Amino acid sequence: MRRRIQQMRKRLLLGGVIATALGASMLGAQSTSTEDALADYRAMFGDDNPAALWIARGEDLWKEARGSRKVSLADTCDLGLGDGVIKGAYAHLPRYFADTAKVQDLESRLLTCMVKGQGMDEAPIVKNRFGDGDRKSDLEALSAYIIDASRGVAMDLPMTHAQERLAYESGKAIFFYRTGTHDFSCATCHSQSGKRIRLQELPNLSVAGADARDTYTVWPAYRVSQGEVRTMEWRIGDCFRQQRVPELVFGSQAAIDLTMFLAKNAEGGKMAAPGLKR
Ligand code: HEC
Repeated sequence: MRRRIQQMRKRLLLGGVIATALGASMLGAQSTSTEDALADYRAMFGDDNPAALWIARGEDLWKEARGSRKVSLADTCDLGLGDGVIKGAYAHLPRYFADTAKVQDLESRLLTCMVKGQGMDEAPIVKNRFGDGDRKSDLEALSAYIIDASRGVAMDLPMTHAQERLAYESGKAIFFYRTGTHDFSCATCHSQSGKRIRLQELPNLSVAGADARDTYTVWPAYRVSQGEVRTMEWRIGDCFRQQRVPELVFGSQAAIDLTMFLAKNAEGGKMAAPGLKR
């Protein structure tokens, strides 16, 4: 495993060159399309996804006794299937948790486990949620590790608690709500199959179906253009920016509700994350 990771680090450096080319193609260079550059990258990595590095770091973080209580998440964190159980857990999230009396997605649940369970300070974890240069995000690494443990498991949400159904309905309402300077909703860009903005394909996420399944099940994903593993809350937050609305608050009810709507539309799809995205 360690040797594979070293090999991957080397190729990651090489990959940086392609990521730069990707950046150039996004700025409108004619010579290489985004898809071509991503295809080059895929050809080079084969079945390997650099996300393996995040998974390995996430595993260490999961098992290490940390925080003022000096306990590990592996011993104390319940993601819905019992303390420390990660296999299949992500395929049944978001869900209602009795201890917080809230519907939570993976990111907000992890935060609860780290702050309430381990006794860590919330502010620095949230501040570093997407990392900052060399200081990598713990939440992204933990997410990669946990999601990997659901590989091949079909998305299947409990949807038995009234608050879960409410989260879905509210996520749906947010998805179709037109606002901001351009009067866009998520649906403006994501309600037809085969649409594109510049070179990027826009999946139809407004209804249950193949597009929603194929999209949801590969997130979190390693973003080639950023050299980072990004989670679903990051993805939705970046689309808030595209929609020209104020920044999505991490772990907020809006983030959880939108995730619930997307997750429900992806039901039956087999988890294949962390994926690889441009
Ligand atoms: C102005 C158009 C626009 C709006 C509005 C928009 N998006 Fe997006 N969305 C995009 C584009 C473009 C991409 C592809 C981005 C990329 O590859 O970097 C994308 C990608 C995504 C993806 C990942 C798709 C994939 O193939 O992996 C998700 C999930 C998503 N958007 C959800 C949302 C949600 C939820 C909203 C509303 C909060 C929203 N989007 C609003 C343009 C938009």
